[in-house]
Amino acid sequence: MTVALPHQRPPVDFRIVDLFAGPGGLDMAATVLGVPSVGIEWDPNAVTTRTAAGLETVHGDVRAYGPKHFPEANVLAGGPPCQSFTVAGTGAGRRALEDVLEFVQRLVDREDRADIDAALAKMDDERTGLVLEPLRWALDAIDDGELRPYDAIVLEQVPAALRVWEKYAEVLTKEGYSVDCDILHTEAYGVPQTRRRAILVARRDGHKATLPDPTHHRYRKGAPRPPRDFVLDSWVAMEDVLTERRSPFQVVSNYGTGGDPKLRGRRRSCEPSATVTGKVSRNRIVTDDSAERDLPRLSHSEAGRLQTFPKRFPWSGGDIAQQIGNAVPPRLGIHVLSAALGLAVPGKDEWHALAEWSPRSEAEADASH
Ligand SMILES: C[S@@+](CC[C@H](N)C(=O)[O-])C[C@H]1O[C@@H](n2cnc3c(N)ncnc32)[C@H](O)[C@@H]1O
Repeated sequence: MTVALPHQRPPVDFRIVDLFAGPGGLDMAATVLGVPSVGIEWDPNAVTTRTAAGLETVHGDVRAYGPKHFPEANVLAGGPPCQSFTVAGTGAGRRALEDVLEFVQRLVDREDRADIDAALAKMDDERTGLVLEPLRWALDAIDDGELRPYDAIVLEQVPAALRVWEKYAEVLTKEGYSVDCDILHTEAYGVPQTRRRAILVARRDGHKATLPDPTHHRYRKGAPRPPRDFVLDSWVAMEDVLTERRSPFQVVSNYGTGGDPKLRGRRRSCEPSATVTGKVSRNRIVTDDSAERDLPRLSHSEAGRLQTFPKRFPWSGGDIAQQIGNAVPPRLGIHVLSAALGLAVPGKDEWHALAEWSPRSEAEADASH
């Protein structure tokens, strides 16, 4: 399908199927780039938000579907839920990682799927199976004579998943893909938040896969804000996007480092936010002075903006803080998708389109059908 864009980007010929689509961080990125996408998501809360935002959604379990159900999609995207190997370095974390790598090999060896499924069903942690889903989809598209391999693949997870993406990279390279994967830092892409994510991009048919180049300086705790130079912009601070808050503030994390409440993380409004998690609404906001007077906590719109969602994004359903914490920051998504699909490096048109986006009214949506 070819889509013409409202802000004059050249038409693109991609269509994304997005596994574990959450509230739609990656799909918002696709929307801004004019790339149609359909997300599969099972959480009714996230689906309520997606529906309010007009994002195309299949409400269901990713494991019940496969590439043959989405024959028009030529790009596979996915952000499986965080895995128990997040606790990297611990015995349990290492075992979970080894289990995943072993199952990757069984998929690659084209072992009987019923046997693999039966072994997965016996695992204590069902997320082991979920992190394998993107590879299952990619291999099914390659093996099914009636389908085409995906032209591009884009995957996102917590940093501890990099080892899994590296294994995926080996496998996909043997299947004819060019692959790049690494940890990206969101503030280096203009997100007013420090957040690290393991990203994999893969392309076929002679296109070289490359991760996007950073556009902004990295944040270093205690170091002054670096000035804009010929290559990189200064990082973006919370106060740059939470403009309704007129005086300086500090965000005091809900958790203390190592469990010590005295060591609660703090960020000043003139710095990027710490990683926005599902507990974001528990953070205290205080005045940035010795009085440390309590200020209103972050609204959903504000927490969403720290993730670069538009101001008018219609967060809906329950557990909205968790939905916000789960999402890929759309701005990072725009950079990653543009690089993965070989589109122009995003610029002010895209940032304007993202910031000014608003959900279409029902009348507008009906008129376009
Ligand atoms: C890390 S979030 C993904 C965020 C998403 N990429 C975005 O940009 O907003 C993972 C999502 O997977 C969903 N999920 C977990 N298991 C699932 C399954 N078996 N089928 C469909 N969705 C699932 C969760 O509800 C959660 O919303």
